[in-house]
Amino acid sequence: MRPQAPEGAPKQPGALKLLSGDANPELARKIADALHEPLDEMRITRFADGEIDVKIAHSVRGADVFLIQPTCEPVSENYMQLFIILDALRRASAGRITAVIPYYGYARKEKKTQARDPISAKLMADIITLAGANRVIALDLHADAIQGFFDIPVDHLTAEKLLVEYIRKLHLPNAVIVSPDVGGAKRVGDVARLLDLPIAFVYKRRPKDDVVSEQRVVGDVDGMDAVVVDDLISTGGTLVGVSHALRAEGATSVRVLATHGVLAGDAVDKLVDSPIEEIVITDSIPLPPAKQNPKIKILSIAPLLAEAILRVHEDRSVSELFK
Ligand code: R5P
Repeated sequence: MRPQAPEGAPKQPGALKLLSGDANPELARKIADALHEPLDEMRITRFADGEIDVKIAHSVRGADVFLIQPTCEPVSENYMQLFIILDALRRASAGRITAVIPYYGYARKEKKTQARDPISAKLMADIITLAGANRVIALDLHADAIQGFFDIPVDHLTAEKLLVEYIRKLHLPNAVIVSPDVGGAKRVGDVARLLDLPIAFVYKRRPKDDVVSEQRVVGDVDGMDAVVVDDLISTGGTLVGVSHALRAEGATSVRVLATHGVLAGDAVDKLVDSPIEEIVITDSIPLPPAKQNPKIKILSIAPLLAEAILRVHEDRSVSELFK
């Protein structure tokens, strides 16, 4: 008979295993390099009609598996991959499965804003859990409340420190940190407090999704270097409008920093043609070569994600990372 672990003794996690879907293999490789661990072999193929199939090459039985898959464009495809790989891992008897989702698609649909709206962010959380995730690691979710959409533990990381360090190194003589909307007030307040800088807000009104109609600056930006901090840039409409509003109020320069560069459609062209001097994003979402531009600077989030994975694996505090 096998010796039993003493009652109450912590359960030893299995060996750490890293897997990646197709969403951001470059980020997964950087995380693996930072952890000095290989990425486990997995083949994602298509049936003739486009259905996804997954073959995990080696046993994951009992292992502490981290599946890296941001649900960026193509959003539905990357979500389906995430669900199907989670299902395969669960059926292969993985000991514990953590879905590492550096960008959470559908996060902006986290509440009903009109009658008969879906709450897609909650639906995705339900399916992720149903498919087999035991834990989630997320990064700068559009709304903090999305953590509560899961009944499993969520470690919610932030790129704030990375952005703060970047701003600090700019040595701007007269900087003001700007929130592009009221929803971003807490994020911008945190960044400004860490840098001991003043803040300003932009009042934004959206008559329809993806359309911004009015942007008014609240606070003093005259003669100042405006640094706008947001969670994501999608069509670029918000930040292009903000940059014009800030310049009209006398800001001498405008820079924008965001965790997630969704950069949908012609967003890059719009941003590059605007008064914005510099656009700083992280690599939570891959930026295809066709969208790369000298005005866009990419900071890597891989060291933070790698450290969080290690801490979860070793049952150590993740909140320590924010101190
Ligand atoms: C809004 O609440 C978000 O924080 C972003 O400002 C917004 O989603 C960006 O979208 P877009 O780039 O399409 O204006």
